[in-house]
Amino acid sequence: MEMIRSVREMQQRALEERRKGRLIGFVPTMGCLHAGHLSLVKLARARADLVVLSIFVNPIQFLPGEDFACYPRPVERDEALCLAAGVDVLFYPDNDQMYAPDHSVVIQETFLSQGLCGASRPGHFNGVATVVAKLFNIVMPDVAVFGQKDAQQLRVIHRMIRDLNVPVEIISGPIVREADGLAMSSRNRYLTPAERQDALCLHRSLDYVESRIREGERDVETLRNELASRLAHVPSARVEYIEFVNDETLRPVARVEGAVLVALAIRIGTTRLIDNTVLRS
Ligand code: PAF
Repeated sequence: MEMIRSVREMQQRALEERRKGRLIGFVPTMGCLHAGHLSLVKLARARADLVVLSIFVNPIQFLPGEDFACYPRPVERDEALCLAAGVDVLFYPDNDQMYAPDHSVVIQETFLSQGLCGASRPGHFNGVATVVAKLFNIVMPDVAVFGQKDAQQLRVIHRMIRDLNVPVEIISGPIVREADGLAMSSRNRYLTPAERQDALCLHRSLDYVESRIREGERDVETLRNELASRLAHVPSARVEYIEFVNDETLRPVARVEGAVLVALAIRIGTTRLIDNTVLRS
C-alpha cells in the first residue's frame, strides 16, 4: 500500500493511472475506520483498478464547539485496516496541504442542506461539499463511495455532482450495524457502557416505525409522537430531531407515501448520533 501525504503527488499518481486507462475508485473518510468504511472499500474494489482511501479530518465541516479537536485519529490502526482491506493508496494529507491560510472559496448547497442536520449544524454541508470537491480534484476518481448512514450528506453530494457537472459516479453503501443493531460510527467510541446500551434506541425506533408501517399506519404526526414518547424513557437520550422527509427533496411529509426517509439525530449523553431508514410504501 502506498502512503501519499502531498496533494501534488496524489494528483500526479492519479493522472498516471488515468493515462493508463485504469479506473480509480475512491473512499473519502475522516479516519477512525470501522467495518462500515471497509464495506465501502469493498464496493470501490469491485468497480475500480486502483482504490484510494483518504483520511482527512476536515476542519471546515465542524462548527465551533464541536469535536474537531478531539476527533479520534488512530493513525496506525487505520493504516493496518487499510492494508488488510486491500486499499492501494492511502491519501493522508495534513491541513496545510489541503487549505491555504487565506483560502476563501467554498461550495454552497442551498436547498437540501437546510433541514435535518443542516438546521443544527449551519455551514456543515458547505464544508463537506467543499472538501469533497477538493478531494475529487486531487484523487480524480471515476467512482466514489459514500455510506447511506449520512443520508443527507449523500444527497448533497449527488446534487453537487449534478449541478457542477462533476464527472464522478457516486455509489452508496448500506448502513453497517453492530450485532445488536447500533449503526457503526467513529463517534460510538465516545459512549460509556450505559450510554452504549441507551444508543440502541435509534435502531429500535427505526424498527418500531417499520413495524407500524407494516400495520398500516401512515400518519407522520402519530408516528413521531409515538417515537418521542418511547424515547422519553431512555435515560441519556435527548432528541434533536425525528424527521419524516421526502427521500429526494428532503422536505417534510405529513403522510408516509412513496419513498420517505426517516432520519433521527439523538444525543446520547454528550454524543450526537444519527441513523435513518427509507420507507417505501
Ligand atoms: O463522511 C465523512 O466522513 C466526511 O463527511 C467526508 C465525506 C469524508 C468529508 O470530510
